[in-house]
Amino acid sequence: MGKVIAIDGPSGAGKSSVSKAIAEKLGFQFLDTGALYRAIALHLRRKELSDDALYDETSNAIKGITIAFSNDRVFLNGKDVSDAIRTTEAGHYASIFSAKKAVRDALLSIQRDAAVNHDVVAEGRDMGTVVFPDAWKKFYLDASEEGRAKRRYDQLQGKGVEITIEEALNDVRERDLRDSKRDIAPLKKADDAICIDSTFLSLDEVVEKILSCIDE
Ligand code: DC
Repeated sequence: MGKVIAIDGPSGAGKSSVSKAIAEKLGFQFLDTGALYRAIALHLRRKELSDDALYDETSNAIKGITIAFSNDRVFLNGKDVSDAIRTTEAGHYASIFSAKKAVRDALLSIQRDAAVNHDVVAEGRDMGTVVFPDAWKKFYLDASEEGRAKRRYDQLQGKGVEITIEEALNDVRERDLRDSKRDIAPLKKADDAICIDSTFLSLDEVVEKILSCIDE
């Protein structure tokens, strides 16, 4: 098992950019678990699985799917879905389907396998609590709701997605509530995670802070 740096936190706290930068600096692989949940949700939507489908039905619908990362792109069953999984709708359904045990069970081994032969920076909601409870280092990245909505707004605008700041605020609010209230693997700070508030920090400042904690 390689070294794992676990970075959890709510949506829009900057986890992806920070994790990617840290992975690059340390020569670790970047594991974007949100992309896994987004891709699986896209697959289930395409299969027209209902939100209230039971375990077996969900599990059967997932059986045999492949999700792969290559050159910053995400492939679902061999097809590039990098843009399709980044819409607000894809995030909404990722949040809904990620509450299902069959989905979490299917992704658990995929996530753990990613760290078997590599050092990884793994970002998500339950990295430090469930997937990698023995992670080498654990962080919880947080920010004010307004700060997170603004970050989400900027990200989506940058990708050409039409969104208002109110819609971005509703998106982070609604998803965080659902992600932290679900029964299985809810968004939660691990007891031994270092908490960092990124509201008034730039990307570089957050990265520096995390690197200096790792050095200590
Ligand atoms: O990080 P993200 O916005 O790409 O994640 C999309 C959704 O996937 C998020 O709202 C909840 C779910 N998710 C999860 O339940 N557990 C993870 N480790 C990562 C994401």
